[in-house]
Amino acid sequence: MTKKQFTSKIDELVKLQGYQKPEYHFGVLKLDSNENFVINKQLQQDLINAAQKNSDVREYPLGRAERLVESIANYVNLPKQMVGIGNGSDQILDIILSNFASKKTKIMTSNPTFGFFEERCKLYQIPTIKIPFAKDMTLDIADFLSKSKQADIIYLDSPNNPTGFQFKKDEITELVKKFDGLVIIDEAYGEFSDYSLASLTKKFENLIVVKTFSKTFGLAGLRLGYVLADKKFIDVFSRVLQYPYPLNTLTIESGILVLQKINQIQETTQIIKEERARIIKKLRETGAFDVFDSKANFVLFDARGADKRIYTALLEQGISIRKLGKIGKHEGCLRVTVGTKDMNSKFLLAIRDLLK
Ligand SMILES: Cc1ncc(COP(=O)(O)O)c(C=O)c1O
Repeated sequence: MTKKQFTSKIDELVKLQGYQKPEYHFGVLKLDSNENFVINKQLQQDLINAAQKNSDVREYPLGRAERLVESIANYVNLPKQMVGIGNGSDQILDIILSNFASKKTKIMTSNPTFGFFEERCKLYQIPTIKIPFAKDMTLDIADFLSKSKQADIIYLDSPNNPTGFQFKKDEITELVKKFDGLVIIDEAYGEFSDYSLASLTKKFENLIVVKTFSKTFGLAGLRLGYVLADKKFIDVFSRVLQYPYPLNTLTIESGILVLQKINQIQETTQIIKEERARIIKKLRETGAFDVFDSKANFVLFDARGADKRIYTALLEQGISIRKLGKIGKHEGCLRVTVGTKDMNSKFLLAIRDLLK
């Protein structure tokens, strides 16, 4: 690469926006990134302390990752040869995109879809076909299926971020069955929904399911994702495509330990589902918003033109939610993460006061 080519490549990349992280506000109630605060901080702290005791960070994590893979395989009820791990599901999605897609492959997804995925497609100049959500923030499977004929790869976050929508299980199964190409299902929020497609990876070689410890397990800061797919794909993924040591020792050990606390984790998932229903109900009762159903740990609502005012006023009161702007026919959308009961009550009270 000549100096000139190097600078012109940088000039080309500079035009890209990159993934838009939420603004960082110190000391606020963080309801902007779909993290999990229902999980007790002490539980995670104890876990990390135990992980640290089991670790010797002078060593490369040789052999440890395999134990994590076995624990995950046990959790998802698949053979360990069908499980790969990565530095967050972001990194796994990136590996899949950079190796299996190109300028010549068309990826079909929804509009909106997971922002990071979209930005990565732009980076690799992968053309995308985006199917818009209907006014009620749902997708029509027949429409999706018929348009999929133009695509080589389908990517769906299921449930979708930011709408919270998920196709019915039989609909998405039909899609995997009928589509003559690769289907990537991102189940980052899978545990908050009604089903997972994990077991279908045994039946369909063209299906890749990507999952994470960032949401249900409350380990976003440790960066731990995993991928479930046919043995041949996982072999190539883990042996050839993935870094030799994608995860640090503490993350690996914490992943193994958190899976031993699965009952406690599942209790928090249940609380989140109940709190999600409460938030949806209370927001609807105000009559001021269009509030969409959700199968994830967040709720999307259209503030009917008041989005900027509400976002700023909440922030002034120390509550950070996500401002998303226009989505389809809805001009001013906001997304709030389901937090602890207390956090949610504070959010709902603040909303009530703002509407007075
Ligand atoms: C749909 C979706 N997939 C993947 C991720 C990233 O997860 P991770 O923390 O494992 O990189 C997110 C995070 O917000 C997400 O919304």
